[in-house]
Amino acid sequence: MDSLTLGDHVARQLLRLGAVVGLKDADAALYAELLVTSLGNASQRLLSQPPPSPSFISDDHTPVEFSLSLRPHAAPVLRVLAEPGCAAEDMAANGHQGLLAIRDMARRWDISTGQLDRLEDLFFPSSAHGPLALWYALELRPGGVPGMKIYLNPAASGTQQATATVQKALHRLGHRQALAALPDTAAYPFLALDLGTWEAPRVKVYTTHPGLSAAEACALNRVQPGPAPADIAAFFRIAAGAGLPTGLGNEPETRLDRRPALACHSFTEQSTDRPSGFTLHIPVRDYVRDDDESLIRADALLTHFGVDPSVLGDTLSALTTRPLSDGVGLISYLALAHERDRQPRITAYLSSEAYAVRPGTVIPRPGQARSREPVTGQPQPPTRHLSQ
Ligand code: TRP
Repeated sequence: MDSLTLGDHVARQLLRLGAVVGLKDADAALYAELLVTSLGNASQRLLSQPPPSPSFISDDHTPVEFSLSLRPHAAPVLRVLAEPGCAAEDMAANGHQGLLAIRDMARRWDISTGQLDRLEDLFFPSSAHGPLALWYALELRPGGVPGMKIYLNPAASGTQQATATVQKALHRLGHRQALAALPDTAAYPFLALDLGTWEAPRVKVYTTHPGLSAAEACALNRVQPGPAPADIAAFFRIAAGAGLPTGLGNEPETRLDRRPALACHSFTEQSTDRPSGFTLHIPVRDYVRDDDESLIRADALLTHFGVDPSVLGDTLSALTTRPLSDGVGLISYLALAHERDRQPRITAYLSSEAYAVRPGTVIPRPGQARSREPVTGQPQPPTRHLSQ
């Protein structure tokens, strides 16, 4: 195992996941090769070496994360998120390397990077700060031509500048009043762009919501007509482990008071100032004992939203052979996505765990102090609280 490289590890995971979702071997092989190439020298590192950098993509710093997006009566969609500049010495070089990797991929499929080029000075300052500079995600479609998304850091020039940076970026992309349409936020952790062949390419703005309750989650949505509040509330309660309302009105309110939930609003050219999409992301890994419990919640969610959950269990088996009860974080986030005129979509974000498995924790019942003792009795690694 220790003679495996990071590139081998993530490529093998991608090939196995591809088989689970029904991608042709040749398509999966192409995507695996692209992923490995995009990581540059980092892909040659042995898994026995430390991670190339403290990548914020995942808790154990693997610079790659997978996700599985599911909607009723549709084939599952597999995606991969990666940090091409993960081996760079600082965030400015990280961003620069990321841009080179994106331009290489864009040339290959004749994808325009025009939208990204227009934002380059805002997101790639010479003194870039923060937990990321550039990540990309590929939607691994059948046929070997992926959908491409880019994730940028609005706080690249400092957290004080983040709001102004989001405002300028939206303005340049033609969404002049869009910022005013967004909910109040503690931070803008990411701005994302769809590049290439999408039905309606989007710019997406992520917002951070510490201490969120189900009612507050419903109130975050700015899309009209948006998701049914009952859908958002059910998603929140199942993902957060709060159970469905009893109707008696006497249950304690559940708040996400550990790692915060994120919301994301998307804008397209058809609707420049009103968002057309809303997504709520819940970091389920911080609200469960172990991955057994995460999978139970994810299965319940999928069933609630009319999706056959069996594929999700199969993807977890494709990622790792460890028992789900041996750790927490294999499912990092669960998300509910609403796009106008479409059925809701559930996404599970899946960790690669190239470097470490976080031990499970005892989660106290409401009213109890939170125990710091992991179930395994091993010392708990420090939780990373990177500024966003
Ligand atoms: N690891 C980071 C976090 O936990 C960033 C991240 C990775 C993320 N995948 C994500 C955020 C999926 C939201 C959804 O915040």
